[in-house]
Amino acid sequence: MKKIKTIIQDITPDMRTPEDEYLETHRGSHEMWVEAKGYLPGGVSAQSHFKPPFPLYFSKGHGSRLWDVDGNEYIDTHCGSGPILLGRGHPVVLEALEEAKTGGLDYGGPSDRMLEWTKIIRKHVPSLQQTRFVNTGSEAVTYAIRVARGYTGKAKICKVEGCYHGSTDYSLVSIAEFGGSPENPEPAPHSRGLTILDDFVLIPWNDVSNSVRIIEENVDELACVILEPVSGTGLGFVEPDVEYLKALREVTEEHDVPLIYDEIMVGFRWGGMECAQGYYGVTPDLTTLGKIIGGGAPVGCYGGRGDIMEMVSPLRDTSDRVYQSGTYSGNPFTATVGLAVMKFLDENHERVYRHVNSAGERIRAGLRDIIEDQGIRAHVAGGFSTYDAYYIDRPQRNLREFMKRDRKKQMARDLVLVNWGVYKQPGHFAFTCLAHSEEDVQRIIESYDVAFEIAEQTSP
Ligand SMILES: Cc1ncc(COP(=O)(O)O)c(C=O)c1O
Repeated sequence: MKKIKTIIQDITPDMRTPEDEYLETHRGSHEMWVEAKGYLPGGVSAQSHFKPPFPLYFSKGHGSRLWDVDGNEYIDTHCGSGPILLGRGHPVVLEALEEAKTGGLDYGGPSDRMLEWTKIIRKHVPSLQQTRFVNTGSEAVTYAIRVARGYTGKAKICKVEGCYHGSTDYSLVSIAEFGGSPENPEPAPHSRGLTILDDFVLIPWNDVSNSVRIIEENVDELACVILEPVSGTGLGFVEPDVEYLKALREVTEEHDVPLIYDEIMVGFRWGGMECAQGYYGVTPDLTTLGKIIGGGAPVGCYGGRGDIMEMVSPLRDTSDRVYQSGTYSGNPFTATVGLAVMKFLDENHERVYRHVNSAGERIRAGLRDIIEDQGIRAHVAGGFSTYDAYYIDRPQRNLREFMKRDRKKQMARDLVLVNWGVYKQPGHFAFTCLAHSEEDVQRIIESYDVAFEIAEQTSP
């Protein structure tokens, strides 16, 4: 990796832009991208994998490090969009991969690992009385909504403006776009091809009176209320007011509308093993999880109250059940890796969370100092093992305020981080993992110091 101090000396008024530098040091990725575009739209298989000016193509990862096809080495602060809590190549994961290799792939029936896996999850998140394992978070959300619809016999989905729930039709509404007024938000599509906007009822984040009013006005049609208990992607990191979570719990309980917490992003990070619901002391009816519970293997799961989840039981009459299946649901590969990581967390969570949360706190403190020293208009967000810093005057209170942040400068800053060996997916918040060393933490902070400064000069 490059030496940070030489970068600082190199800052001059006629310096190259972060994009120029990126192209120069990532020629292999650029070449691959140019060719890949002929085969894969935009050269990628997921929208979020494309970050301008072009994506990096990675070849390997180990510990806290990632390497790209140009041989550049990075401290990985993206951690696979969250799942890589233990770092890469952790012995527990390597052993599980060996076990999966000898145990073989897809049995076309349930594996012997699912039971222990689900028991560990329920031990720490007791609201998951019954659980189904699927392959992605997006799938889990889709099925949780379907179960809620089957249970209530009602159709409409109430979601919080700005909360992100994955990439299916049931999720791509009002996550970076908005309609209506702040008090009465209306659904806005995040994609062409969505035909179900009318199925949505929108409520404003952290706004108790308007949210409760809107839920009550629509309650006869509502199949569920879904939210991220701690907002992550859409409206940036914002903690909820506990009063808000409690108010949504009360009104949904009163009208028997299933309350769904999407903890795919923050589950087993925010609040540690008890997840956000335990940390805030508010229990939903259904929960979606993903990422960490698969230990890096593709996963999603949804679960919750037994009487609601019972709707997907194959023991019910076919005319009175919700259907959910899948060739790979609960597959032995994911179950082996997921079980190994969850077992490790069950036994070592105090040590693991002490490490990742303290690294997160030190980085957030470092970012606050940098912002103050450099006199930058930005604020630090995140908690536990997550962090970012947004170019915005004060912590955003909703999606509309978050959309006013200086995204251009943020992208420039994050690109500089990449250029100098800290892999943060531009525009996405960052994570800490068990493999991050004290030296990594220091380098991350020092790199931000440089990146903030360069972004001020190149994207004023
Ligand atoms: C809160 C939340 N819900 C759902 C999803 C979708 O999960 P997946 O990407 O596994 O489909 C994500 C992914 O980042 C997420 O952050």
